[in-house]
Amino acid sequence: MPSPPKTYLILGATRGIGLELVRQVLALNHRVIATQRSPSASLKVLKESYPDSMRILNCDVSDETSITEFVRNVGALAENGEFLSHEGDRKGLINTVVFNAGILTHPARITEFSSQFLIHLQTNTLGPLSTASKLLAHPRLCFHNLVFISSDSGSMGRWLDHEDGFAAYGMSKCALNMGVRHLAAELARKSKGGEDGMGEGEGEGGGKREEKGVPVVMAVHPGEVRTDMASAVELDWVVEGQMEVEESVRGVLDVVERKGWGGVEEMGRGEAGFWDWNGEVHPW
Ligand SMILES: NC(=O)c1ccc[n+]([C@@H]2O[C@H](COP(=O)([O-])OP(=O)(O)OC[C@H]3O[C@@H](n4cnc5c(N)ncnc54)[C@H](OP(=O)(O)O)[C@@H]3O)[C@@H](O)[C@H]2O)c1
Repeated sequence: MPSPPKTYLILGATRGIGLELVRQVLALNHRVIATQRSPSASLKVLKESYPDSMRILNCDVSDETSITEFVRNVGALAENGEFLSHEGDRKGLINTVVFNAGILTHPARITEFSSQFLIHLQTNTLGPLSTASKLLAHPRLCFHNLVFISSDSGSMGRWLDHEDGFAAYGMSKCALNMGVRHLAAELARKSKGGEDGMGEGEGEGGGKREEKGVPVVMAVHPGEVRTDMASAVELDWVVEGQMEVEESVRGVLDVVERKGWGGVEEMGRGEAGFWDWNGEVHPW
């Protein structure tokens, strides 16, 4: 039996992994809020095919004003009740947010320090975490899964010695991972303390927010994927196991279904997971 439609919010949806996420989620009969920085012809075409299941909003995750405006616009979709389904008595439910927007400028080395370090941190680390914080604080929104597209380049536990020139990118994803772990812990602590501030207030039981009401938080490495990001860099090494974007995205969506809210291998709250696109644990 087909599962009831869910709502996904995909940040950075104009190209590559983000655009394919939108395509696959719509093909599965779910609803999507897709974000762009500037008008995207690809998203416009999809919207023409799925006028009822799709909304397009603007968001530049490196710009706090843009993030604030974007969160207000997401909240408006809950307020008028026309797009987001309602959880409990009054919250617009977004089942899964995918923080996918990211940049990679190569090379960016510590020994040749440049403004690229700040730009990577702003876009790949602070932007997604600030957006998550603002979404969670919105009184009319609630969430089941918060999925941050990270990278094996950000792993301390599985150091990639050959990745010359990946310092700014790797640092930004490593810091993102640490932020993701703190986010999961903070949400669980706040829920146990009965403190509001996560956008949901009361748990499903109607009393204080229960642990079950806390979103599942995860970082996902999508694999080595043939996208603009990958083709824009000239490397001295062969990238092993590169795949097409369709395969990566099928895997990412499967990980969210299995490890996310209500999944058969659903994670506990308070501890974020770091997964590869194929469902294997990635060392932090
Ligand atoms: N491809 C890989 O092999 C690989 C491996 C590991 C991790 N990742 C991660 O996967 C994610 C997607 O990568 P991709 O390969 O699909 O890259 P991509 O083809 O370059 O697409 C990047 C997307 O992010 C958006 N974006 C960039 N900066 C943004 C900003 N400041 N605000 C909002 N959106 C912004 C872009 O929008 P515009 O069209 O407006 O530029 C585009 O939609 C990234 O987080 C990346 O680090 C990719």
